[in-house]
Amino acid sequence: MYEDIVKKLEKHGQMHLLKFYDELDEAGKQKLLGQLAEIDWENLDELIKDYVLNKPVTSIPADLQPAPYYPVKPETADQEALYGKAISMGEQFLKEGKVAALTVAGGQGTRLGFDGPKGTFPISPVKNKTLFQYFAEELTRIREKYGKPMKWYIMTSLMNNQATIDHFEANNYFGLDKAQVMFFTQGTMPAVGLDGKLLLGAKDSLALAPDGHGGTLLALKRSGALDEMKSNGVEYISYFQIDNPLITIANPLFLGLHSLDASEMSAIMLAKTNAFEKLGNFCKSGNKLEIIEYSDMPDELAEQTDANGKLRFIAGSPAIHVVSVNFVERLTSGGRLNLPWHRADKKVPYVDASGNEVAPESINAVKLESFIFDALPLASKTMVLEAVRENEFAPTKNRTGVDSVESCREMLIDRDCRRLEAAGVVIPRDADGKALVKVEISPLAVLDDADAVEYVKKNNVSISADDKEIYLA
Ligand code: UTP
Repeated sequence: MYEDIVKKLEKHGQMHLLKFYDELDEAGKQKLLGQLAEIDWENLDELIKDYVLNKPVTSIPADLQPAPYYPVKPETADQEALYGKAISMGEQFLKEGKVAALTVAGGQGTRLGFDGPKGTFPISPVKNKTLFQYFAEELTRIREKYGKPMKWYIMTSLMNNQATIDHFEANNYFGLDKAQVMFFTQGTMPAVGLDGKLLLGAKDSLALAPDGHGGTLLALKRSGALDEMKSNGVEYISYFQIDNPLITIANPLFLGLHSLDASEMSAIMLAKTNAFEKLGNFCKSGNKLEIIEYSDMPDELAEQTDANGKLRFIAGSPAIHVVSVNFVERLTSGGRLNLPWHRADKKVPYVDASGNEVAPESINAVKLESFIFDALPLASKTMVLEAVRENEFAPTKNRTGVDSVESCREMLIDRDCRRLEAAGVVIPRDADGKALVKVEISPLAVLDDADAVEYVKKNNVSISADDKEIYLA
């Protein structure tokens, strides 16, 4: 194997990767050769040329139109009937165990700056439950409510898989049956220096990074998760990101409309708060749905308004999907899936030519990632449903500021307060309408508004401004 690899590296100008080979012990040698043998060098050369040495230019289709979507609330009598039918259908799917939950948790969470998988970050405002615990408790309540466990597929990466499993083991799976959870790992891609040379992360290893959430689809196939879903009668996947604890995992309306529209991949959309909000834009080209990233959207399109002054391209993507199992099967049946790559310029720690470990202070490498939403144009049919941001999307990307731990906690408190108010509880608020008490409701007790009404009926809930914080379970 060594000779073959040397030939390949010479041919592709990457011999520096074996610089420390002779210093390695046998295990180290095998590890490095194993990684190098996995690489499709011809393909990588193309990628390096197109994405690293040159910056890819995204072409915007000339016929780009805003994508149509179903509004949050039905607007006509026909739509009202359709939504009613969809909700019953979605509830039925949940009762029959036809829906699995899929959390993508393989990212590196660099912006959060937290040592450990993002899912192990303590997010809940009063009890500091981790993101994983929060979802696990929702799944427990979903099981109670619909009478069937919803299997939870968690995608990790090689970098955080063990730490993720350890978190579940140490916490007894947060009360879930262990068999209800399956971890599977996504693929990796080597990080490439700005000069087109691959980087060593250690003397015995390439600098590897997860291959983006687009890697989910192939990873489902390769891990056997997809086959398991099929043999267990799962038809629909509720897809969400680890850093959004506000998501409705079991959303009957979304599931039902997906099915009634014979959609293969559906998406939740939120009305953007301004033309340049950092959300992907739902667009239509020909009869295909696609997402144009905010960074690729031409300003003049982003800013266009209709006759009422409303943004034309109003629909932003919070990365919440229903995906049909059959669609994933169709896309990945040959064991391959060619989604487009996206370039991300990053600071990647590496081992330099003298063998020193370097933590660069400026961007030194390109990571290549594929994105799940690039599967949308591959679907024969798609469906987009509007959701209320305050009920659905609280991304935890940074420590403070926009899309942060702080804003996420505030949104969780706000959602729980609104639920209690709707159930008749008085919430003390300041002049700006901000709740004066930190409120947290356990997902074990309350999954949705109907649960909140029941909970308030059964328990004597009263909240005074002196409470400061309150936990309802
Ligand atoms: P982000 O793009 O926000 O990346 O991922 P991130 O890794 O969490 O954070 P930064 O950009 O390094 O700060 C959105 C979602 O997709 C998952 C993440 O775990 C998160 O749930 N993801 C991302 C993967 O599962 N795999 C990847 O390769 C990338």
